[in-house]
Amino acid sequence: MRVAMIGTGYVGLVSGACFADFGHVVCCVDKDPSKIDRLNQGQIPIFEPGLDALVASNVRDGRLSFVLDGAEAIRTADAVFIAVGTPSRRGDGHADLSYVYAAAEEIAGLIDGFTVVVTKSTVPVGTGDEIERIIRARRPDAEFAVVSNPEFLREGAAIEDFKRPDRVVVGTEDDRARVVMAEIYRPLSLNETPILFTARRTSELIKYAANAFLALKITFINEMADLCEAVGADVQQVARGIGLDKRIGSKFLNAGPGYGGSCFPKDTLALVRTATDAGSPVRLVETTVQVNDARKKAMAGRIAGALGGELKGRTVAMLGLTFKPNTDDMRDSPALDVIPALIARGATVQAFDPEGMEEAARLLDDVQFKDGPYEAVAGADVVVILTEWNQFRALDLDRVKLLMRQPVMVDLRNVYRPEDMRARGFAYTSVGRT
Ligand code: UGA
Repeated sequence: MRVAMIGTGYVGLVSGACFADFGHVVCCVDKDPSKIDRLNQGQIPIFEPGLDALVASNVRDGRLSFVLDGAEAIRTADAVFIAVGTPSRRGDGHADLSYVYAAAEEIAGLIDGFTVVVTKSTVPVGTGDEIERIIRARRPDAEFAVVSNPEFLREGAAIEDFKRPDRVVVGTEDDRARVVMAEIYRPLSLNETPILFTARRTSELIKYAANAFLALKITFINEMADLCEAVGADVQQVARGIGLDKRIGSKFLNAGPGYGGSCFPKDTLALVRTATDAGSPVRLVETTVQVNDARKKAMAGRIAGALGGELKGRTVAMLGLTFKPNTDDMRDSPALDVIPALIARGATVQAFDPEGMEEAARLLDDVQFKDGPYEAVAGADVVVILTEWNQFRALDLDRVKLLMRQPVMVDLRNVYRPEDMRARGFAYTSVGRT
């Protein structure tokens, strides 16, 4: 199959590289000349484990290319994927669809022969209808079908998630489009991946429902964590105790500082907007958004609490800045709430993150960025684990203790065990465990 991928962000780049690895001929198109230049030099603009090697081998084998002008690729494609950004529109939380519609306009001018136009971007219900209208208005003669094919990959595990998904969802009622989509995903049949064909609007909603449910699940366990602290229970055991029930499932029950990232915050808000506009509010999701926002803001208070309530003149070592490990993505990271609040209360912040510091420096003022975890903890009054990077799981704790002004740790990811930390002489607090 010949595939054109519009947009080389996270989803576009990973999907493009993986489709090429499936054996398809993929051309990735982006409007940003410096990005295309860098990709053509083998430089990957995001940190994603394994992506550089996957891109390099598929470029070498002639199945993957990057271009600024997508005309030829779109004209010859069996399927054109739209994988551009759908950020939150400022002010109202609606998904901003201007990039999606601009892509639809561009595609309309170019398609030749039966072409499947696929939205991989996360788009609200009804966007496929609008894309179809745009293309049809401009090209009443064109033979095409607009299909929804949401992506469920996670940053940091993107290639594995793409190649071994729990399911693929394809929203279309067009038989020819079904055949093309089945062929594109055929290599996954080896792993017996279920491909769920639905109506287009249903598929669009599945994506939001999945993210909202996961956000809700995390928020639920976060509230249980607070309750555990209040009543003297252990949230990890509660999570295990409920997660072993197959109807609940054990994943996404890690309590922490609140979810962040490029998807959950934006998609939950967009779902709330869609539901409100449709006259069918989703109050559980509305509450999830509020509870999570409040949680991220409350974390500075927890850190202050570990220092007796006073942050003025204190030095906080922050280990981890990204919203989760194995990414350099800072979008909606809890760090963006926690660090300014600490600084506003008079603390000095010394931070280290293995991949996120360049981006963090753009978003955070007055933070002292350090070269490693030990440099960050030197002279600190408290060390905070904000992101559970593997290297923070195996710190030389005796060294940390010696370097700090006093051995106080706030572990917001429950990386260490309370009894071990106390035995080592740390004043240790974590989430949902006493
Ligand atoms: C999420 C979904 O997991 C993907 O399925 C989806 O494709 C993606 O959004 C998207 O819509 O593009 P991602 O944002 O990369 O993926 O990251 P997650 O691993 O889901 O983590 C999101 C946030 O939840 C992080 O801040 C993480 O620390 C937090 N989290 C996750 C918890 O606090 N506890 C958990 O148990 C799991």
